[in-house]
Amino acid sequence: MNNTLFFALAAFSAACASPPEPNQNQEPVIMNKYATDTHSFSRPNEVAITHLDLDLTVDFETHTLTGTALYQLERTKGQKLVLDVRDLEIIRVKDAENDSVLAHQVIKGDKHGDALEIELAENTQSVQISYRTSPEAAALLWIEPAQTLDGKAPFLFTQGQAILTRSWIPIQDSPAIRLTYGARISVPDGLMAVMSATNPTTKSDSSIYHFDMPQPITPYLMALAVGDLAFESLGARTGVYAEPGMLAKAAYEFADVEKMLIAAEELYGPYAWERYDLLVLPPSFPFGGMENPRLTFATPTIIAGDRSLTSLVAHELAHSWSGNLVTNATWDDFWLNEGFTVYFEKRIMESLYGREYAEMLNVLGYQDVQHTIDRLGANSPDTHLKLALDGRDPDDGMTDIAYEKGYLFLRWLEELIGRERFDAFLKEYFATFAFQTMTTDKFVDYLETNLLSEMETRPDIESWIFKPGLPANHPRASSSLFDAVDLARSAWVQGKMSAAALPGAQWSTHEWLHFLRKLPAGLRGEQLTALDNQFKLTQTGNSEIATAWFLIAIANDYEPAFPALESFLERVGRRKFVQPLYEALAARPDRVEWAKGVYAKSRGNYHAVTVETLDEVMDWEG
Ligand code: BES
Ligand code: ZN
Repeated sequence: MNNTLFFALAAFSAACASPPEPNQNQEPVIMNKYATDTHSFSRPNEVAITHLDLDLTVDFETHTLTGTALYQLERTKGQKLVLDVRDLEIIRVKDAENDSVLAHQVIKGDKHGDALEIELAENTQSVQISYRTSPEAAALLWIEPAQTLDGKAPFLFTQGQAILTRSWIPIQDSPAIRLTYGARISVPDGLMAVMSATNPTTKSDSSIYHFDMPQPITPYLMALAVGDLAFESLGARTGVYAEPGMLAKAAYEFADVEKMLIAAEELYGPYAWERYDLLVLPPSFPFGGMENPRLTFATPTIIAGDRSLTSLVAHELAHSWSGNLVTNATWDDFWLNEGFTVYFEKRIMESLYGREYAEMLNVLGYQDVQHTIDRLGANSPDTHLKLALDGRDPDDGMTDIAYEKGYLFLRWLEELIGRERFDAFLKEYFATFAFQTMTTDKFVDYLETNLLSEMETRPDIESWIFKPGLPANHPRASSSLFDAVDLARSAWVQGKMSAAALPGAQWSTHEWLHFLRKLPAGLRGEQLTALDNQFKLTQTGNSEIATAWFLIAIANDYEPAFPALESFLERVGRRKFVQPLYEALAARPDRVEWAKGVYAKSRGNYHAVTVETLDEVMDWEG
């Protein structure tokens, strides 16, 4: 059954003040290109935004964006344009063609946002809203100079995914929407603005920047950053933006990006977005990376100095197909974005650096998903690929399941069908559904018709998608390099090998992670001291190794690592790192007060996404 293409009811959120209108008079079922999304109040099947022009002024004094949004509409039925808003001050709404004021009201929703209902005139085709953001806008992080990499100028960035764009733009904030946009952004002197759009490469004398995004994108991909930025080209279609003091390091780290882009196109077809640039953000960026079209936002914590953490770039680049071109229709279908992207990422890495390298990443990914299944419970519905997030924060469903179980499912299909056939299938999938949204049901139908129907026995895909845990016949990655690490680890743990005799100096970041993650609890202080003295783990500049090491230091009460842990927590806001560290600290009665002190000092430096998670971990009462 495909109940997402056709539906009769308006896409009302469960949290909406008015109840959904029952289809009492049995209207004919409406053909609809928009999936029902319970995380948005918008009703694009009635009136949809097709294009948006922003004109905003960025004010670092008041921590606000002020200006106008001008919308072009596609009207199917009814007189109401419904937008998602959160903490926005709506100053005025008017018909953009004749300047007449349009009545509007904000209907209270929940903490994730409200509905802005605008009464359209019969012939209204475009609407202009004057508005101002709140200093508390959840998408925005206003960063003091001291918290930037260079320490000289303030910085601002937005994070839209999953449902935060509504806190800086009144918008139909559902991944099922697509719109083109333009923008004029005015910033303080000396700063540069960049967006998920055509970008400048030098600062403008007027401090006004113009942007254009001619390909239709989904609202969670609207993005803006403002700071003291400089640009360096990396290849014909690729480049990097960073604060001046970070630019050379970033350009070194990302030297292979152009090659990644070429490899990606060879796998799954032409790149649709013209340019692929990266922006290095301050360390408070809450994610590793965010696939904002044309301009991936990235954490500086992947700049390790040895290019060992660049699979993240392959990941965000892969989203240019899975996610940005073919987009999950609702957050329940998140695995269609992330699982496909992890699969694609690993294929890019394999094509550049070989199978052995990719298999190390795969083993680490498998450890992650096992850990997540243990944490969620083997029978938890949150371990289904297809999620059920009605009435919950979509963030709750954004676990390693979508990523790594999704990856394993696609690898399992690849192994059943053969790589050549599977690659042709994926290439065709991206071409067929480019610039469209995808539901799990629609994907299953497509898979059925275009791949499974060729097979003699139909594989059990339902267990992967609609059942918990991992099917018993899941693919198994293996790495002989990791096997050697396993031997060295046991010898060292048992005291049969000294720290000095460990081959750690030759290990890659991945081998180190494998070594550290599987260290047993209850190590002796002298052992840790010897390991630390030998390999300077407490001082490492590699954020992945640092996090793995700090977790061991916390579990084994290794005091000498705590000052470095403290400064790491104060500086870095990447949730994937700070969440497990605070959780480990909170689980130790002798460390919880110390951790609360560190959190109190650092909380103001973190983005709302990280704060939301950590408040719960640390039992924070503000
Ligand atoms: N799109 C995600 C980040 C995201 C997911 C933001 C859900 C908000 C809600 C991005 O592509 C991603 O997956 N980033 C990962 C890195 C990746 C290599 C697994 C991250 O940030 O750790
Ligand atoms: Zn991703």
